[in-house]
Amino acid sequence: MSKTIGIITGSLRKNSFSGSIADYVKNHAPEGYVFKMIDIGSLPLYNQDYDGEDIKEYTTFRNEVKALDGVLFITPEHNRSIPAALKNALDIASRPYGANVWNGKPGAVISQSPGGIGGFGANHHLRQVLAFLNVLTLAQPEAYIGAYHTLIDENGALSSEATQQFLNGFLSAFTAWIEKVS
Ligand SMILES: Cc1cc2nc3c(=O)[nH]c(=O)nc-3n(C[C@H](O)[C@H](O)[C@H](O)COP(=O)(O)O)c2cc1C
Repeated sequence: MSKTIGIITGSLRKNSFSGSIADYVKNHAPEGYVFKMIDIGSLPLYNQDYDGEDIKEYTTFRNEVKALDGVLFITPEHNRSIPAALKNALDIASRPYGANVWNGKPGAVISQSPGGIGGFGANHHLRQVLAFLNVLTLAQPEAYIGAYHTLIDENGALSSEATQQFLNGFLSAFTAWIEKVS
């Protein structure tokens, strides 16, 4: 049976660069793996007052995360950190206290930016949060994809062969990591 890996992008933007990388990943999943998008755009802002309540969007999201065999985060950098929507999603699925559904999931991080340092700040802020949530995050290879706007075609699809090859290697390392820690 194939393993299902959730892709969570830190961007809510239509035609986003993160979504472009997600499309490549979905279409080039290693054998035995299915990558599927997990939506975070419709999650209400986390509020601890809701912890005892059945908020439909929260419950659906927590159950989706719980069912995954792993999670791949693909994110832009917002002001040298992770976008608020992504932090919101991380917080929602970490609670109520004692019911952190990220716990023990294998994970990996890809950051991208039109800038030269490829979202390094966001990548490492995200890794810090994932360490606390006990996501077993792939250490190497790291993935900071800079100048993303130069790597796509007129439809926004990833067209740089070098980056495609890098991502293929990254996905092989990620799936090997999942096999190791699962
Ligand atoms: C609020 C905001 C803050 C940003 N801050 C940074 C930043 O600190 N570093 C960076 O490299 N790019 C920054 N950017 C640019 C985005 O990271 C960049 O446009 C990204 O590639 C967009 O990804 P997306 O298409 O997946 O949304 C910022 C963009 C926004 C909207």
